[in-house]
Amino acid sequence: MLEKVKELLQEVANFVPKSEKETEEFRLNFLGKKGEMNALFAAFKTVPNESKKEFGQAINTLKQNAQAKVDEYKGSFETEEKGEEIDLSRPVSLDNLGSRHPISLVRNQIVDIFNRIGFTVSEGPEIEDDWHNFSALNLPEEHPARDMQDTFFIQTNPDVLLRTHTSSVQVRYMEGNQPPIRTLSPGRVYRNEAISARAHCIFHQVEGLYIDENVSFADLKQALLYFAKEMFGEKTKIRLRPSYFPFTEPSAEVDVSCNICNSKGCNVCKYTGYLEILGCGMVDLNVLENCGIDSKKYTGYAFGMGIERIAMLKYGVKDLRLFFENDVRFLKQFDKSI
Ligand code: PHE
Repeated sequence: MLEKVKELLQEVANFVPKSEKETEEFRLNFLGKKGEMNALFAAFKTVPNESKKEFGQAINTLKQNAQAKVDEYKGSFETEEKGEEIDLSRPVSLDNLGSRHPISLVRNQIVDIFNRIGFTVSEGPEIEDDWHNFSALNLPEEHPARDMQDTFFIQTNPDVLLRTHTSSVQVRYMEGNQPPIRTLSPGRVYRNEAISARAHCIFHQVEGLYIDENVSFADLKQALLYFAKEMFGEKTKIRLRPSYFPFTEPSAEVDVSCNICNSKGCNVCKYTGYLEILGCGMVDLNVLENCGIDSKKYTGYAFGMGIERIAMLKYGVKDLRLFFENDVRFLKQFDKSI
């Protein structure tokens, strides 16, 4: 009998509950009505007199130790369980989730639209060299058009700069791939401009490039019309105006019909009925040759647009700086609209 008490003492000493439930089971097992303690106290009567003292002390110690264990652990699991098992399959509360940034949403939308006509995404470094940002794109040193893109140079080395457009990614892509090429280059670009409601020193672009045999200006126009309708609505019209870029010839600037006033003229479109959205053109033969593509066999078109500008036009946002302030009250509005 004394042996049994010693075993139980050991058991109590070793017991470490993992939950409220285990603690309660332990309590019932030792201290409950039908528990070990009551059984031992009942058995006490049958113990021979000479052993009563030793046995009595042992079971009193056992009871105290068991009670001490229960006191130690009871209630310590309450916050985790409240008497229930944790339900791991329960959906999490969505209350505090953030929302996607409107620039990411519009970027994804542009990528998705061009994906559907076979364009895939390519990416490249934001810190570029002169060749990929300028020279390969038919902008040799001292070319006056370099001034169009106020460039951030890194330290004093004019060969290292922050890319001013993602055309640099297209150069890299052409260097590594032969036509047919159909690639879209989204990414962050940098220009040394004063920050205002319409300009920022950091912004985002998506540029597209399509090179194959017999690619024509008509293909470019059709792809852009498709894009404009997908982005701004079925009724959208586009207008191409002649322009100049060193890397394309001929070049054009593309406007979409103003969807705020239905092209009737308002202060957003400055009473012209149209809004400028991107630059484009047929890839200059020099650019193809610079990138190792046979300009006698292949032709191509390219276009480039600012994501902030598209987002501003689509959602009537009047100040570009809002995209960089990260005020959640502003950002949350776009979440469900796309
Ligand atoms: N890279 C030009 C820019 O950033 C945009 C452009 C791309 C124009 C391709 C024509 C063709 O201004």
